[in-house]
Amino acid sequence: MTIRKAVSSDISKLYSIEKELFNAQNFPLSRSSFYYHVQHNSLYVAEMDGDIVAYILVLIKRRDAKLYSIGVLDAFRGNKIAEKLLKHISCELIALGFERMLLEVRTDNIAAIALYKKIGFSLVKTLNAFYKDGCDAYLMELTYPLEQSKIKTTSQIKVMQ
Ligand SMILES: CC(C)(COP(=O)(O)OP(=O)(O)OC[C@H]1O[C@@H](n2cnc3c(N)ncnc32)[C@H](O)[C@@H]1OP(=O)(O)O)[C@@H](O)C(=O)NCCC(=O)NCCS
Repeated sequence: MTIRKAVSSDISKLYSIEKELFNAQNFPLSRSSFYYHVQHNSLYVAEMDGDIVAYILVLIKRRDAKLYSIGVLDAFRGNKIAEKLLKHISCELIALGFERMLLEVRTDNIAAIALYKKIGFSLVKTLNAFYKDGCDAYLMELTYPLEQSKIKTTSQIKVMQ
């Protein structure tokens, strides 16, 4: 499996994955949103044998990083692809000096909540009727210790050299 930054030519595939994974209640991303995020945010894809099978999108706004979406095609689930994408993006955020990543998740999304807890996210609070269908959301956060940020930043700079 390869993880790489998404580029404009990935947008059609990303949009088709999005339509497969999310219905209208879940704020699916439009084709034009993908176009925007490729240029302005952290959007990574996971490839198997040259085909995109998963993606992760983190929105970057000043000093805040928010996990907006992560999705793995049904046939490829259970292979730790989501876990690897989250770890990959965390390394990038740490290298950039971020101290935490936030997210909102439907309280009925058992798989996603288990994934986030395994990675180390903790519950901040419940957001009542956050989704269009009235479902609540959990606001969760993953904190990166400041010291860890500094150490990883240094080692990443070494790797890049
Ligand atoms: C949630 C999702 C991204 C997980 O992707 P995945 O690649 O299958 O997950 P991983 O294989 O990396 O699983 C890592 C951990 O997550 C948890 N997990 C994943 N799928 C799970 C499931 N169906 N039930 C319970 N826990 C699950 C487990 O703790 C797992 O670790 P383990 O295998 O050691 O038990 C995937 O199911 C998906 O794309 N769902 C639809 C889109 C979605 O709901 N995205 C999240 C909201 S934006």
